Amino acid sequence: MKVPFFRTAITGDEEQYVHQVLHDGNSFAEKNFISKCENWFAENHGLNNFFLTKSCTHSLELAALTLGIETGDEVIMPSFAFVACANSIALRGATCVFVDVEPNTMNIDAAKIEAAVTPKTKAILTINYSGVACDYTAIKNIAQKHQLFVIEDNAHGTGAKQGENSLGSFGDISTFSFDHLKNISCGQGGGIAINNEKLLENFFVHYEFGTNRRNFFKGKENRYEWKNLGSNFPLSELNAAMLFSQLENIAKINGRFVQLWNLYFEKLSVLQTQNNIRLPKLSTDSHHNAHCFFMKAKNEEERDALICFLTAKEVSAQFHYTPLHNSEFGLTAGRFNGNDEFTSTESKRLLRLPLFYNMTDAELNHVASNVLEFYEADNC
Ligand SMILES: Cc1ncc(COP(=O)(O)O)c(C=O)c1O
Repeated sequence: MKVPFFRTAITGDEEQYVHQVLHDGNSFAEKNFISKCENWFAENHGLNNFFLTKSCTHSLELAALTLGIETGDEVIMPSFAFVACANSIALRGATCVFVDVEPNTMNIDAAKIEAAVTPKTKAILTINYSGVACDYTAIKNIAQKHQLFVIEDNAHGTGAKQGENSLGSFGDISTFSFDHLKNISCGQGGGIAINNEKLLENFFVHYEFGTNRRNFFKGKENRYEWKNLGSNFPLSELNAAMLFSQLENIAKINGRFVQLWNLYFEKLSVLQTQNNIRLPKLSTDSHHNAHCFFMKAKNEEERDALICFLTAKEVSAQFHYTPLHNSEFGLTAGRFNGNDEFTSTESKRLLRLPLFYNMTDAELNHVASNVLEFYEADNC
């Protein structure tokens, strides 16, 4: 049995809306599906200023522009991160200050952030790794104390909650991804939530080509002109049509991800008990969306041997982020603050198992039994 790492969720309902856009000449101008998606986030997650973008990468760059991050500023972030997080800061000429992760969730270790704050710090950039919230009580306390902005990268966590609060509601600005590898997808797309309303006016200028076009179309200005840096950030109506269908099916899609995640956890727990592997340890009020299932082998050698073993069985398992702080460009774009206690060692142990919406129980059993076989055969 061949098990791919990921297949984009297609529920079958997407076609109808995409068809609608293609058969209605006015759709692209009227942006009906774009409005429906943006309203959906307001109604379902209380994100009253949610806007679609072409990708989470664009959203992160837009966040940095909106916050006026510039040369001489510092932004604190985890080094175990997607490169777009650091690029968004480096593109503005600012410095990335990398902080360690905590190993249970692989999220930034909130207890290590304050030591990295300097008079140059402008923001803290967090990632809700695999759709699990960071410790926002602690992070927001630090941000408030030092007057810093929080950029919450929620690329992984659409539909997830921490207690009663939706992921994406914690940052002054939060970003989302709907690329082909996310639970909820439109092939390629992103979102941005402006939760700090004081930032809205600035945001609209950068979002719409660096102009005051929005106010012009609302009749608030006689003409529009170039006001600041900006770009063509909004998503296309065609992608929004697919996305809206997925949002309508979010309970079904994320529900299946969670069901599969729980099955993996149940089947592989025995290996954790025997001290062979480490599984994620989440707080009881984490209503995550099971974006990915990760486990940790003893060390990099064992992790790579397991990936090879699974590949030979036609199961595609993958490692994840390579730390940014000691990458070729990271060495000049930033610095690591404090001790790298977990970032390097834990990222080398980590592997992700196949997990996708239309994965069958049989496919999951096949993957899990091969992981068990690897450890039974004492390949490590
Ligand atoms: C944490 C994180 N942020 C941002 C991105 C970029 O997302 P996109 O592909 O929508 O640009 C990714 C990509 O997977 C990611 O993992």
